[in-house]
Amino acid sequence: MIKKHMPTIAALLLMSACTVALAETAALSKAPASQLQRGRYLVQVAGCNDCHTPGYAPQNGKVDEKLWLTGDALGWSGPWGTTYPTNLRLLLAGMSEKQWLHHARNMEPRPPMPWFNVRAMTDADLKAIYAYTRSLGAAGVAAPAYAPPGTQASGPVVRFP
Ligand code: HEC
Repeated sequence: MIKKHMPTIAALLLMSACTVALAETAALSKAPASQLQRGRYLVQVAGCNDCHTPGYAPQNGKVDEKLWLTGDALGWSGPWGTTYPTNLRLLLAGMSEKQWLHHARNMEPRPPMPWFNVRAMTDADLKAIYAYTRSLGAAGVAAPAYAPPGTQASGPVVRFP
């Protein structure tokens, strides 16, 4: 009995998954150009690229936009251990706008991430950053894993005394 219905159930599940995906895409492509521009502007002037885009600060910001916010393998070492700037393109691809607002207001990542600056942003600014980052699409690989104090960090690091 159940077996007979399996293909139907599978088809229904697939259809609803597609509908969700389509609705998400539609919502994103509907983001007004002014909101995307605002997001791009904020990512630039609030310094997100400085750490979350590979080579951004050392190359005076001359990094292909395709690479923006894809995270970095340059570690930041200090008394907190070694942290690596998260790939925000992948992070936000897995979050709804609502989840992002909640995350941005409640996260407490380790240094040198200025989470307090993100928390101080208005909803409109956070939504613009979300819309812009999602419009770039998911890309790149996850940043190296956090290394706790006293453990070996992978690759080059910026060292805080
Ligand atoms: C000085 C470097 C630096 C700057 C500037 C910076 N970040 Fe970060 N960010 C980091 C590091 C390093 C981490 C990882 C922290 C950890 O592992 O605990 C991080 C983590 C995050 C996370 C948490 C990811 C998660 O897994 O929950 C978010 C979200 C984030 N950054 C967004 C931003 C945004 C938006 C901006 C611009 C307003 C920004 N960051 C600017 C270095 C930076």
